[in-house]
Amino acid sequence: MAEDAALNPQELFTAPYSKLVLEIGFGQGERLAEMMEQQPDNAYIGCEPFQNGMSNFLLLVEDKKPENLRLWMDDAMQLVRSLSAASIDALYILNPDPWHKSKHFKRRMVNPVNLDEFARVIKPGGTLYLSTDVPDLADWMAAHTVNHPAFHWTARSKADWENPPKGWISTKYETKGAKGAKKMCYFVFERKA
Ligand SMILES: C[S@@+](CC[C@H](N)C(=O)[O-])C[C@H]1O[C@@H](n2cnc3c(N)ncnc32)[C@H](O)[C@@H]1O
Repeated sequence: MAEDAALNPQELFTAPYSKLVLEIGFGQGERLAEMMEQQPDNAYIGCEPFQNGMSNFLLLVEDKKPENLRLWMDDAMQLVRSLSAASIDALYILNPDPWHKSKHFKRRMVNPVNLDEFARVIKPGGTLYLSTDVPDLADWMAAHTVNHPAFHWTARSKADWENPPKGWISTKYETKGAKGAKKMCYFVFERKA
């Protein structure tokens, strides 16, 4: 990846698409596969560096051979830094690794440096979806994104971040109750014009 902000993602796909959706760190990929099923007019880029997750996802979509999908199996920021400005309609970063120790906070996917890049690649009016069940990370992600001048938090009440957005696709992790996710937080930000 050249990381030169010059990659127009339209050139990656053979057919026109309605919206371009990027998911960073898709884990086992069940949500990405379901989004593709529900909204086949969109194009999708999925990033997941770990082989187990990537192979699980590939098994989910292997019989479909989707033309509207491209995958990146390395650090998602290499891809993001390569993309041209205002090229993504929706970016999902769900349950990113928490990096609990303060000396590791700079490794958190949602951080001030990366937020500048997300602001650059998301189209005005586009959407950034964040979620976590780690209270400290929820505070961190909400505070840094609210304080970023390019993003507007769409929540109007507590219920908006305590409950999944309408049409949300939940993973097994989220729905397993006490054995899986604890109290999930859902943050939906609009890229300002
Ligand atoms: C806690 S898991 C969450 C997985 C999934 N999003 C979910 O909600 O079930 C965090 C994921 O982020 C991925 N990840 C970590 N660092 C990454 C990076 N630099 N670029 C892309 N993905 C990354 C990990 O491999 C892992 O699959």
